[in-house]
Amino acid sequence: MTVTEILQWVDQLVFTQTGNHLNNLQKNVVQGIWQGRTYAEMAKEFGYDSENHIGNVSRELYKVLSEQLGEDLNKSNFRSTIERLQDSFNSPNSSQVVCIGINSSFNVCPFIQKNDSSSNKDDEINLAEKSYHDLTLAPKITHFYDRTLELQTLSHWLTTQNPRLISVLGLSGIGKTTLVKQFVDLNLPQFDVIIWKSIKLSNSLDTIITEILTLINPDSIQVDNKLTQFFNLLRQQRCLIILDDVQDLFTSGQFAGQYKTEYKDYKNFFTKMTEIEHQSSLILIGQEQCQEMLCLDEELYPVKCLELEDVDNIEILKNLKLKDEESWPNLINLYEGNPVYLKDIASLIRNIFMGKVSEFLKEDCLLLTEDIKFRLNELFDRLSPIEQQIVVELSKFNQPVSREDLRQALSLSSTDFINGLQSLSKRYLLKTIEGEKISFNLSPVFREYVRTCCQD
Ligand SMILES: Nc1ncnc2c1ncn2[C@@H]1O[C@H](COP(=O)(O)OP(=O)(O)O)[C@@H](O)[C@H]1O
Ligand SMILES: [Mg+2]
Repeated sequence: MTVTEILQWVDQLVFTQTGNHLNNLQKNVVQGIWQGRTYAEMAKEFGYDSENHIGNVSRELYKVLSEQLGEDLNKSNFRSTIERLQDSFNSPNSSQVVCIGINSSFNVCPFIQKNDSSSNKDDEINLAEKSYHDLTLAPKITHFYDRTLELQTLSHWLTTQNPRLISVLGLSGIGKTTLVKQFVDLNLPQFDVIIWKSIKLSNSLDTIITEILTLINPDSIQVDNKLTQFFNLLRQQRCLIILDDVQDLFTSGQFAGQYKTEYKDYKNFFTKMTEIEHQSSLILIGQEQCQEMLCLDEELYPVKCLELEDVDNIEILKNLKLKDEESWPNLINLYEGNPVYLKDIASLIRNIFMGKVSEFLKEDCLLLTEDIKFRLNELFDRLSPIEQQIVVELSKFNQPVSREDLRQALSLSSTDFINGLQSLSKRYLLKTIEGEKISFNLSPVFREYVRTCCQD
């Protein structure tokens, strides 16, 4: 069992008992107890003067968990009790869906996928009694640097506003998929149906809808009106459907967010999601905005958009086996707080610099690994020729460039130029800086890539 799994499990038990999810300190404490750390060690690490506060938080948690599990839990038996309960869940005699807590009325074991696909003719009644979680295509999170604000935002939207469509957007590697999976792990009980799909793996809308309907009720799919059946499902049950890698719906070589011909039906589908009355939500994860993700009128269309920013906390480097913690902020700064660049560069620092971040920084250059270049190459290849001209020109400057100077350097019509800037910002590749004059800049990593790899 991983720490993430323990956190999900404890969170669900606490939520059942108290109606509240674990806060950050509680999560840290659970993690600490699981890892056998003393209260004093935790107090020091979390910035408390005395261990008393950590002890109190822990005892509160033991109390709630003891009531939920029906046995006395304390610091010394916490890990062994959970491992024993997990073993009994894994034993051949246990049924597929197990309730570990005596007082829990739902499946509190988050590691179980509830793919109960038994046929049911009386579906309207029985559908409401079942829950289905298909997270087979979602990544498993083993280490999560807490994007607390973003998790809270998602939670707030989904608990109070019932948005029908949420887009989670940002650069490749910034942590979109990880964030949404962490959110799902922590909020399983809130939804009757949770299904994770990736456009990379099953791309046509018909395939995705058929797969979802088959999973829920294989015997009653009617070939002609699958979309109606799908919206009926969204009405009858509270579903959370996640579509990852949505940028794959859009054409390369054109402005951002233009659907490929074969995926045009998604446009209509996303619009219908927001227009039709139901109690479910669709989360789109992608690197590129499209029109349907933007909310023109929040009252009319319950659409939300969460744009992920760089990470700026050294926590992200913990677990990556690096040394010289005092140099970590500089490393994070150099690689723009992008978790995937940082993971990649950390592996290089471990191999070549014995994990010494300060030694690596002495190289005094923005080194691009083959993996980083590969990712950026994929981004560059998606750009339209107009955007490519703009980024090549911008990459020649270390400072932000004003709109007038940039326009002068390029031989583009005003429409192409402005639309090109707009499209780049929809891909999170362009920074707009407000000053005396509005100016534009590329991120240093992308600039370095364009300078070294795209001058032809
Ligand atoms: N909050 C986080 N805590 C720890 N690692 C993270 C976090 N966000 C992202 N990562 C790591 O960075 C990598 C890229 O994250 P991912 O979610 O796949 O990015 P995206 O979906 O935006 O392309 C993953 O390997 C993931 O483990
Ligand atoms: Mg992703």
